[in-house]
Amino acid sequence: MTQEQFQDQWTAVDSYLTDQLAPADEALNAALAASDAAGLPPIQVTPNQGKLLSLLAQMQDARTILEIGTLGGYSTIWLARALPENGRLISLEYNPVHAEVARANLARAGLDKIAEVRTGAALQTLPKLATEPGAGTFDLVFIDADKQNNPSYVEWALKLSRPGSVIIVDNAIRGGTVVDADSTDPAIVGTRQMYELLAREPRLDATAVQTVGAKGYDGFLLARVVA
Ligand code: SAH
Ligand code: DHB
Ligand code: MG
Repeated sequence: MTQEQFQDQWTAVDSYLTDQLAPADEALNAALAASDAAGLPPIQVTPNQGKLLSLLAQMQDARTILEIGTLGGYSTIWLARALPENGRLISLEYNPVHAEVARANLARAGLDKIAEVRTGAALQTLPKLATEPGAGTFDLVFIDADKQNNPSYVEWALKLSRPGSVIIVDNAIRGGTVVDADSTDPAIVGTRQMYELLAREPRLDATAVQTVGAKGYDGFLLARVVA
């Protein structure tokens, strides 16, 4: 099969799985439509990936979630829905237009009491968050922003965690380019530095899984804070 035929098949299978297991509802559809109308890039997680995030958050019995990279709040909705009514999600977004679209999408989904979007570069907003009284720790951290900063984001996630916290990183494979040790692409360099950090950090136990689907060949990284 050609690359295009593979992609068509991955998309068809994702569409089947989504219809069966992760059907859209009004709030999710509205979030995608509003993101599209505002000109945001269509780089949200797929519905079945969103469902995976939601299931992982539920298995973790998460009460507090940190997300780095909000876009229009699509993954935020899936994650926030996994929280109890008194749960709390903080999502960090650099682009103020993305943040505004996300806030409207969260309000429409009835999640604005649970989920808050903070505007600014995450490396600026994370230190502020860490000094807030009662900022506490997060049960789950989802990292999905600028990939070159992934090593710093994992370090921050660790700082804001407790033993048993879970860290998930999207786009951990990037079409297989992650194995290119000579790459000068900052996203790949950053992702590889993230793996090196995970390999030597005894407080984190991690794995990564390659995935194919409607958004191509990529994967996610899953880490657990052990101590
Ligand atoms: N998690 C979203 C997709 C996020 S796309 C979903 O699946 O629905 C990546 C987002 O990270 C973009 O909105 C981009 O503006 C944001 N971003 C890029 N650099 C950033 C930074 N330094 N700090 C915070 N957010 C950043
Ligand atoms: C890009 C970012 C993402 O988070 C993603 O899931 C896919 C693509 C990007 O920056 O191209
Ligand atoms: Mg992503």
